[in-house]
Amino acid sequence: MERFLALHDGLPRQAPGSDPATQDAVRRLRPHGLPDDPAVLDIGCGPGRSLMMLGRVTGGRVTGIDLHEPFLAEAQARIDEAGLGRRMSVRKHSMLELDGFADGGFDLLWAEGSIYIAGFDEGLRRWRRLLKPGGLVGLTELTWLAKDRPGEAKAFWDAAYPAMRTEAENRTAAEAAGYTVLDSFALPAEAWWDEYYGPLSERVAAYRQRHAGDPDWTAVLDAAAAEIDLYRRFGDSYGYVFYLLKRVD
Ligand SMILES: C[S@@+](CC[C@H](N)C(=O)[O-])C[C@H]1O[C@@H](n2cnc3c(N)ncnc32)[C@H](O)[C@@H]1O
Repeated sequence: MERFLALHDGLPRQAPGSDPATQDAVRRLRPHGLPDDPAVLDIGCGPGRSLMMLGRVTGGRVTGIDLHEPFLAEAQARIDEAGLGRRMSVRKHSMLELDGFADGGFDLLWAEGSIYIAGFDEGLRRWRRLLKPGGLVGLTELTWLAKDRPGEAKAFWDAAYPAMRTEAENRTAAEAAGYTVLDSFALPAEAWWDEYYGPLSERVAAYRQRHAGDPDWTAVLDAAAAEIDLYRRFGDSYGYVFYLLKRVD
């Protein structure tokens, strides 16, 4: 885990995503009651790429939570650099234990590539109380896109993320957890490459040289390379889907 985190520290994102996709998701939510000055919680904000976009496009008061201190430091540096410290902040806080946050404190909950840590259904159920009545959610989740799943992709994800479901299954699960599904859309392939797998591939190549002959590093780098290669070959069959939800009362 230490090597895995070292490989990822300093990357622009820690999951597939893009600034245009975050903007698009906010644009789609706007007509559904997003106020002008929303209180926003970015759950598992990582180094803060989506956090900063939320700060810019919502104009609201945006809080990010994460557990990994180097990511929180990166996110704080981005806030400071943008001069947005009056209305944006980050806190070390677990998404699994949200006692520090009052009921109904947020207009918008955000989670790009992070709800899987709590579990899609469990996270949605637990986080619901943080929303004001009619509050909104934008989150991404790894999702099967194709009916026919190539054997290699299926074997990989059955081992790495057996909870992965289809878009229709996740929409049904969100409804069962107390939300209306307003919209959902798959992230385009650029959102995997430009800010995530591209920078990660460069990092893998550099670390192969730096840690040549170290079996522990080789295992971590091989695993990252295999995941990237799988997406290159079978990325039509799975992807990250943005789910846009509204709390039902
Ligand atoms: C796959 S990354 C996504 C990060 C970010 N949203 C992004 O798109 O770049 C998942 C994030 O969840 C954080 N995390 C892991 N367990 C957590 C927990 N229990 N509470 C809060 N954050 C957690 C990790 O440190 C990491 O930053």
